[in-house]
Amino acid sequence: MNHLLKLADLSSEEIVEILNLADQLKYEQKNGIEHPLLKGKTLGMIFQKSSTRTRVSFETGMYQLGGAALFLSPRDLQIGRGEPVQDTARVLSRYLDGIMIRTFAQSEVEALAEYGSIPVINGLTDYCHPCQVLADLMTIREYKHSFKGLKLCFIGDGNNVANSLIVGCIKMGMEVAIGCPESYKPDADIMKWASENGKFTCTPDIFAAAKDADVLYTDVWASMGQEEEFKERCKIFSAYQINDEVMAAAKPDAIVQHCLPAHREEEVTEKVFEAHADEIFDEAENRLHVQKAVMVRLMGKKQHE
Ligand code: CP
Ligand code: NVA
Repeated sequence: MNHLLKLADLSSEEIVEILNLADQLKYEQKNGIEHPLLKGKTLGMIFQKSSTRTRVSFETGMYQLGGAALFLSPRDLQIGRGEPVQDTARVLSRYLDGIMIRTFAQSEVEALAEYGSIPVINGLTDYCHPCQVLADLMTIREYKHSFKGLKLCFIGDGNNVANSLIVGCIKMGMEVAIGCPESYKPDADIMKWASENGKFTCTPDIFAAAKDADVLYTDVWASMGQEEEFKERCKIFSAYQINDEVMAAAKPDAIVQHCLPAHREEEVTEKVFEAHADEIFDEAENRLHVQKAVMVRLMGKKQHE
């Protein structure tokens, strides 16, 4: 494993190894055991879109690992004035030990990895959100103890988070059901791969999707970069909400996950969100632990590989 560009690049074993290391790092951090595994290393963080969780968890995580993180805004970088990503990659590789990037096009992340000579971590693109789903898998395993026989239902837009969830959950042997409008399905190639490699369905019938689910997941109706479509999307997605009726279709002990930020009374009701807040904020916390594991694997010494 040289980069984290998308979950499809990782084997199931590699994902489990990251989750195991994340559990260990979480235990150590909770018990005051220091783990300066990236002492003297620096992570550059390029953000072309807003962030609360990704920025703070990477920066804090790097600090806890004994290293440093640099927040690189496109407003300040020459990349914002048109310096090619290929050149940015080669320059940053001379200073840094790793790059985390949040941007629009997946191709930009792939180009950084191709032209640079240091590990690149995808902190969200329009195509996928691998760090988020590693944290989701960690949380699901904490609550359900194993992935065996579990069904995850995602309700809403077939977006970046849905794409990564499908890949991550199928790789862990879970069943995945997507409930989304006909014109807002996840990536076609990912759905094809999922159907060929596991138990996967995609339907506009949210109750069929939610039936007997162990995990109900949702995300905003309009992602970053789709702000102008918001009003139209509100009409199209109005029925794609996790509410009491949808919860009733799932298993009685189903957990709710949301990558956040959440829009209450849109993709999830206030009531369901607050009833499952512990699960959702554990999920947000696990971004920290799982990303520390990813950084140790990518930027640390060989014994952590
Ligand atoms: N879930 C997530 O990636 O949150 P941020 O946009 O706040 O980083
Ligand atoms: N789908 C959302 C996820 C935010 C973490 C977006 O891309 O804006």
